[in-house]
Amino acid sequence: VSRPGSARDVALDTLRAVDAREAFLQQALESAAQKAGLDPRDRGLALELTSGVLRQQRRLDHRLAPLLRRGLEATAPAVLNVLRLAAYQLGFMDRVPARAAVHEAVVQARMVAGEGGARLVNAVLRALQQTPETLPEGDTPEAVGVRLSHPDWLAALALDRLGPAEAEALLAAHNRPAPLTVRAPVDPAATAARLTAEGATLTPCVFAPGAWHLEHRAPFATTAFAEGLFRVQDEAAQLVVHLLAPQPGDRLWDACAAPGGKSQHIVDLTRAAGRLALLSTDAHPGKVRRLAETLGRVTGLETAVHDAREPLERTFDRVLLDAPCSGLGTLRRHPEIRWRRTPESVAELAAAQAVMIRRCADTVRPGGTLVYSVCTITEAEGPAIVEAFLRDRPEFGLDLPSPGEGGIDWGPLLGPLGLFTWPHRHDMDGFFATRLRRKA
Ligand SMILES: C[S@@+](CC[C@H](N)C(=O)[O-])C[C@H]1O[C@@H](n2cnc3c(N)ncnc32)[C@H](O)[C@@H]1O
Repeated sequence: VSRPGSARDVALDTLRAVDAREAFLQQALESAAQKAGLDPRDRGLALELTSGVLRQQRRLDHRLAPLLRRGLEATAPAVLNVLRLAAYQLGFMDRVPARAAVHEAVVQARMVAGEGGARLVNAVLRALQQTPETLPEGDTPEAVGVRLSHPDWLAALALDRLGPAEAEALLAAHNRPAPLTVRAPVDPAATAARLTAEGATLTPCVFAPGAWHLEHRAPFATTAFAEGLFRVQDEAAQLVVHLLAPQPGDRLWDACAAPGGKSQHIVDLTRAAGRLALLSTDAHPGKVRRLAETLGRVTGLETAVHDAREPLERTFDRVLLDAPCSGLGTLRRHPEIRWRRTPESVAELAAAQAVMIRRCADTVRPGGTLVYSVCTITEAEGPAIVEAFLRDRPEFGLDLPSPGEGGIDWGPLLGPLGLFTWPHRHDMDGFFATRLRRKA
């Protein structure tokens, strides 16, 4: 349906792919933008539009529903996405003139649904401009869910865990873009100087050493990036590897390693000492191939396909289980997944995690450690997994870091069973991570 180079058309194509094929936003946008030959500036606009629509989808639908005579359900998905795109621009983007947003939407509607579609979109958007938005008040999951555009069950989960005021802060944080967090694999001071010379603004992270929030108009076009001087990794993900605290000479296993962010970090932390023994596995052969390519040839690194629910007849000093999870701690970066997960899918993931933690624990030598982590905020996939594990495996105990271990101020992040990071509190992804030690 694309006219050459239109950010709004690429946004519309992207939204369709995300809805219809359950594609990830970033990948769907990348392929739609390439097909249309979109320049980087318009790519930025397309990203802003699509992530905005996916973040605000429920609130936009709440606004559109009363204006649609036949209701949301009976509206063709392509027309609905045209309407959402326009409603997002009208409601959330000051710099887009209303007339342009409406005009473009009518043109798009004509492309996807003919003259009838164009008339409908025109009428609905004119009505929308004349009706002020009304939002539900109060602390019920439904009211909070509509106001901050999350499904009821996720709003309820946030309310349960954090109480009304903080739950709203968390859900509001999910609707803002995440910072670009990077770390320097070698010589942070020199890297910072180079990046600054290339026009970047760096803000040091509060917790992870040698990490910054990076602002730059095109960070991946810098020579610093081309030379591998920095790697992108959320601060919470970095802290998981610091919690593992790999030491030169350790036998290490990263049991769910693809795409390889944490394995790469382990390599970076231990390579200098020249004694790496790391096994990186994942269940999916294609992912393991790409993982091996990403990590490159490193002495002491082994990659293999392995299902972490199955036993592995080996012994390690340190094991990292960065388990497959609902990913609800990453909603700032992946706005679409809030509409995909369900309480049932969380329960399924938790059941698999409970098996994996036991299999991984079996490979830890006496005195060795196991780090369990998930990039999500459900109790079921985090503390509940660890609590149940510790109940039936008394040979393991919690081994939380002392306040300044590794030069990191762990205190503010620690809860009774491990580390809890939050987008709204710490400007990091929402992770749960903990360290367990097998008694000697
Ligand atoms: C949270 S991601 C890991 C991210 C990775 N540690 C990193 O830092 O880049 C979870 C990974 O587990 C993998 N996975 C899913 N089911 C698995 C299983 N049964 N056994 C092993 N890996 C599995 C997925 O392919 C996915 O790559």
